[in-house]
Amino acid sequence: MLAVRVCEVRHAAIDVLSLVLASLDGGPLPACTAGAHVDVALPNGMLRQYSLCRTGPALRFYEIAILHDRDGRGGSACAHRDIRPGDTLQISPPRNLFPLLPAGRPVLFAGGIGITPILAMAEALHAAGRDFELHYCSRSPERAAYRDTLARAAYAPQLRLYHDSTPEAGRLDAEAVLRRAGADAHLYVCGPAGFISHVCGAARQAGWDESRVHFEHFAAPAQPAVAAGGFELILARRGLRVPVGPTETAAQALLAHGVALNLSCEQGVCGACLLPVLDGLPDHRDVFLSPAERDTGRCFTPCCSRALSPTLTIDL
Ligand code: FES
Repeated sequence: MLAVRVCEVRHAAIDVLSLVLASLDGGPLPACTAGAHVDVALPNGMLRQYSLCRTGPALRFYEIAILHDRDGRGGSACAHRDIRPGDTLQISPPRNLFPLLPAGRPVLFAGGIGITPILAMAEALHAAGRDFELHYCSRSPERAAYRDTLARAAYAPQLRLYHDSTPEAGRLDAEAVLRRAGADAHLYVCGPAGFISHVCGAARQAGWDESRVHFEHFAAPAQPAVAAGGFELILARRGLRVPVGPTETAAQALLAHGVALNLSCEQGVCGACLLPVLDGLPDHRDVFLSPAERDTGRCFTPCCSRALSPTLTIDL
């Protein structure tokens, strides 16, 4: 982890704070590319992932934006309530699970706070002289973080804003946008699960191949209830059997048996906890693995996923 100082806390939109972070000695921060995020250790001990709004090789400042999720598990509420200018926070080095490909014409879609990685992408694409278009949806102008920044940007003509509060100004027709895009276009979408699912569905309707569709979830969508009954994890290399009860996660059961895990988001979004599976049928409950990766059954995310078979043997 890396200690950073909170230089500024800004009101970016209704319910959205932006934090400007610098290294303690004022020196450059680790390089990052558009789409990257950092894990932030919040004052209440929770670890949360936030996309970097600006990226580059030797930044003096990182900027993240945090939406106050009133139905969340307390991370964003703590950030809004307890983080002040001058505070020191621990963050991870940047990690990019949502990178821009070097080729193709990007069509960017942002829903609400999903603008944060998409803003970094727009800035990077503009700086590289690449053509792109950006579609940004929010409930109202007052809830659209970075609206003014985008309106002032040199690439503002490539931006289209849509607000639920002013439907007369135009609604997003994602399928029409994607049908118009050229055969070399790539879709990048970030936002709430419903928004991502809508835009990815529009891409399918428009005949897009999955290889041209890229998305990043902030939080895992609601999952169906866990079937009654537990299962057993077999740790092949340790010769250990760990029962997992119906109300605990595989990660909780492993930790309770003293098995150290690499945990971060704890909701199946980031892939930090991924473990190789040797035998058995995982019940994937994450949004990190692609459908093809899930189908192989070769790995699973113990922070949220379970087993459909009575035992699951993992390479641990
Ligand atoms: S900790 Fe993020 S996917 Fe498991």
